[in-house]
Amino acid sequence: MPEPKRVSQSLANHNDRMEELRKLDAEAEAGGGPERREREHKSGKLTARERIHLLLDENSFEELDKFMRHRCTDFGMDEQRPAGDGFVTGFGRIDGRLVYVFAQDFTVFGGSLSETNALKICKIMDQAMRAGAPVIGLNDSGGARIQEGVASLAGYADIFLRNTLASGVIPQISAVMGPCAGGAVYSPAITDFIFMTRDTSYMFVTGPDVIKTVTHEEVTKQELGGAMTHNATSGVAHFIAPDDADCLAMIRELFSFLPSNNIDDPPRRATTDPADRREEALNTLVPDDPQKPYDIKDAIHPIVDDSYFFEVHEHFARNLVVGFARLDGRPVGVVANQPAFLAGVLDINASVKGARFVRFCDAFNIPLITFEDVPGFLPGTQQEFGGIIKHGAKLLFAYAEATVPKITIITRKAYGGAYCVMASKHIRTDANFAWPTAEIAVMGPEGAVNIVYKRELEKVPESEREALRREKIAEFRDRFANPFVAAERGFIDDVIEPHETRPKVIRALRMLATKVDTMPRKKHGNIPL
Ligand code: HXC
Repeated sequence: MPEPKRVSQSLANHNDRMEELRKLDAEAEAGGGPERREREHKSGKLTARERIHLLLDENSFEELDKFMRHRCTDFGMDEQRPAGDGFVTGFGRIDGRLVYVFAQDFTVFGGSLSETNALKICKIMDQAMRAGAPVIGLNDSGGARIQEGVASLAGYADIFLRNTLASGVIPQISAVMGPCAGGAVYSPAITDFIFMTRDTSYMFVTGPDVIKTVTHEEVTKQELGGAMTHNATSGVAHFIAPDDADCLAMIRELFSFLPSNNIDDPPRRATTDPADRREEALNTLVPDDPQKPYDIKDAIHPIVDDSYFFEVHEHFARNLVVGFARLDGRPVGVVANQPAFLAGVLDINASVKGARFVRFCDAFNIPLITFEDVPGFLPGTQQEFGGIIKHGAKLLFAYAEATVPKITIITRKAYGGAYCVMASKHIRTDANFAWPTAEIAVMGPEGAVNIVYKRELEKVPESEREALRREKIAEFRDRFANPFVAAERGFIDDVIEPHETRPKVIRALRMLATKVDTMPRKKHGNIPL
């Protein structure tokens, strides 16, 4: 009876295979085991799979390459070849939209990057590029897998190349949720946004021990590369989250403003906030005294949909505010001088912050709304020696090359070069509005009078000098420190009452919905880096 025997044999094989699959699956799911997992939880961290679960829509994750193993045989590594090799990669949905994701599992060889893990990441990056969907990387790693040597370095470089080629094509978002050191930092650095968890993450090129040997400086990991260091001091990171769960929720929130790729428009959301809503409070926001500060966010909030503003880079260069909001349900990028911090002056950090944000919005079809109240560029040797010329030029370059709809509202000061840079009409901004409180001139009245009337002031007796100076300042303010001279030339399209800003901007945005503008053919520009 050979026939029945063959059937039962094949059934047995079938069951064995199912059993094997389940075992392999469990092995991959177990990561570095319960003890290491416990250690992570105790230190306030989630595991790679827990993070992905929170990041994505329920049950939407499809894991790839769960059974890949490393091929290293040195240092006894052939004895430890866990399924999946630590990294968890695949795709899923956020608010129903496709995203690709990888998460480094610190419980497996410290989340270190092996040749195999690099292949897994490269595979999803290649798929993401073909599908036109974002890549989100959850980093938590001891860096290059030491046992694999150059194979691991090669893997990093393969990822860096893909990060670079994907830049401006699909959004790339990084979260640093544990260690990220050495050359490994350069993958997040090339991506568009970096999130860091407050007490559990750090990033640096060389750590405290190397620094102590080379420069004799003593510094802790957190001081050197903790979340606040990179959010407030270096500007490397854009967001700080109190813990893993908040970090993942913030990524979902950010993604709600972004298109999936550089061809799509950002997702529009129905809103009940009326497009013609007028905000009377805006009429009295700007103080009568031009030297007095006010908070530009008090202008942004009442104008955007539901007063909701998602700030980016909140703790860095606070003299410039950038972030996302919606108008008429459409995502927009907001760039605003902040008179409440350093009088809203443009310095090196603010210029770099603004330039990067403007370029991101331009790459991903997100219209730019600029609120301007800027006394100029920050004077001083520190700024000049630091290269404010080239850094300020970055912001100018970014605005000038941007072809997305651009709308500017001058609320008060628009002086000197900063007037030109902050999305002026001359660098192809589509709609330029000014409030009646706007002052548009080469410089402020005091500075202008001291230069233009220098000799005249010197000629009069000292007792009369101050009175003459005051008179000339008032004259200058009357003549130039207003929006009407610019409006006469068409550099300002309309002088508007502050309370009508929301309807005016929304109408301009609707008018610009079909805008097409182009750049001359070139390989790429040479932004002053
Ligand atoms: C292999 C690693 C590893 C690595 C950690 N582990 N880093 N295995 N390659 N790079 C393993 C440890 O052996 C340990 O295994 C487990 O991960 C957890 O590590 P611990 O040291 O116990 O954890 P902790 O005390 O939290 O310290 C974390 C750490 C430390 C600060 C990240 O592990 C560390 O300093 N690792 C080395 C970091 C480093 O120098 N990497 C190379 C950087 S250069 P067991 O089995 O005990 O759990 C680099 C170049 C990239 O990355 C270049 C790209 C161009």
